[in-house]
Amino acid sequence: MEKRGQWNSRLTFILAAVGSAVGLGNAWRFPGLAAKHGGGTFLMVYLAAMLLMGIPLLMMEISVSRKFRKGAIESMRGIGKKWEPVGWAATSNAFVIVCYYSVVFAWVILMFVNSWQFAGMTGDNKAASSLFFNLTKTTGLIQGADIPGGVLVCLLVAWGLIFYCIRNGAKSVGKVVKFTVFAPVVLLLIMAVKGCTMPGAGEGLLKLFVPDFTALSDPSLWVDAVGQVFYSLSIMMAIMFAYGSYLGDDANVAVDAMIIAFSDMAISVLSGIVMFSTMGGTGMLGDMTASGIGTAFIVYPQAIVNLTNIGWLNALFGAIFYMMLITLAIDSAFSIVEGVSAAVSDKFHIKPRTVTIAICAISGVISLLFVTQMGLAWLDIVDNWANSFNLILIGILECVAIGWTFSLRKVLNEINRNTKKFRAPYWWFAASVKYIAPVLLSALFIWNIIDIFVQKGGTYNPDYPIWAQVAAGWSVTVLVFISGFVAKAIVKKKRKNGFVEDEVVWKD
Ligand code: PHE
Repeated sequence: MEKRGQWNSRLTFILAAVGSAVGLGNAWRFPGLAAKHGGGTFLMVYLAAMLLMGIPLLMMEISVSRKFRKGAIESMRGIGKKWEPVGWAATSNAFVIVCYYSVVFAWVILMFVNSWQFAGMTGDNKAASSLFFNLTKTTGLIQGADIPGGVLVCLLVAWGLIFYCIRNGAKSVGKVVKFTVFAPVVLLLIMAVKGCTMPGAGEGLLKLFVPDFTALSDPSLWVDAVGQVFYSLSIMMAIMFAYGSYLGDDANVAVDAMIIAFSDMAISVLSGIVMFSTMGGTGMLGDMTASGIGTAFIVYPQAIVNLTNIGWLNALFGAIFYMMLITLAIDSAFSIVEGVSAAVSDKFHIKPRTVTIAICAISGVISLLFVTQMGLAWLDIVDNWANSFNLILIGILECVAIGWTFSLRKVLNEINRNTKKFRAPYWWFAASVKYIAPVLLSALFIWNIIDIFVQKGGTYNPDYPIWAQVAAGWSVTVLVFISGFVAKAIVKKKRKNGFVEDEVVWKD
């Protein structure tokens, strides 16, 4: 066996984790949700959800995998043999997400390359909002199998970049995150200055920061805040298990997790400032939607062409915006591949690089589906199930496994092992992992089930045929959750041929 890769410094680990957490979700989902749920009110509820649930679970994943020095699958086996399938579910769901996150990444590259076109569209909202559709030729429906050449090239570039960044695991990730974490912050700051100096920006900022307490009466505020915390911190996706497993004995998990979570939130708020001030400045505050893809590819281009009267300057701001999204997306995209790769390579003792190549190749082929003309619709379906059902269920199972069948004291000792100043208190950690997180997540799960079955009669979106929703939604969910049992059968067979699994034990 090769020696396990390790981060070369504490900062590298923090940057890698921040890079994974800070992604497209910060740039477009967070501001969209804040617009939907009364600005400041959403910020407060989001902060509460992060403290009550997000941060403790983040600490838990990092410390458990650091202790075992294993990715998601083997770490869950270490918690208890019967929990291994939960590790598999997290890994399989991450694999599903890789297949389409890479496509969104490719679209961002496509828009960056074409941002010069904004120069000729000054003030023309219609042209700006149709650029994305013209480039991707999307039908929005389950039909049309053509793949536009430009999109295909961008997808290849996206996969090439992803592979390049993780080709040597922690070692190569450590090198690129110094750039991919700071670059988007600099670009966001430039855009914030532009946004905040526009007349009308103040109105947008008021909308972002002043709480509108009537929004509290809508329970979907909590649903969205909890979901966003979960998604944004990249937990339950096998990622933090992989990243935690590359930590050394001296890691200060309690403090690092706080830094990661608050940096993530700070960048979300910064994106909120950029979005709200720009939309205020271009008179488009009412157009902000909660849908990320809509904001980034349809609404924001309209803002770009109204930023100034000078075409090339608008195009430059467009290029900055999409460059910012590229640098935001890349470290999230490769972190999921790394999560899957570490988990599988630990399980089967296959060289990390071989697994990484295999995953990039297989998910690269699957991702072709999402760049066809019907790709956006399929992506929408898969994304909804991966996040609204799979991720939440995995979260509940993980909390039950670690909170109820393992010793939380042991985990907390690991979290607090090297901290002097800040120690996570037991009551907070236990309340969260044992009660608050499972209860909130179960409520969220039931809410989503009621939403789809009772309110919408079993359809997620009536424009998509039911068979497609079953094929890309429910079937994927079933596959994700049976993957662990299939793998168990494979391991059993391999054992007969002399394969010996690692011993994963918690040594005190
Ligand atoms: N945390 C990322 C974001 O906010 C989301 C993400 C990361 C999704 C990694 C998938 C994989 O965009």
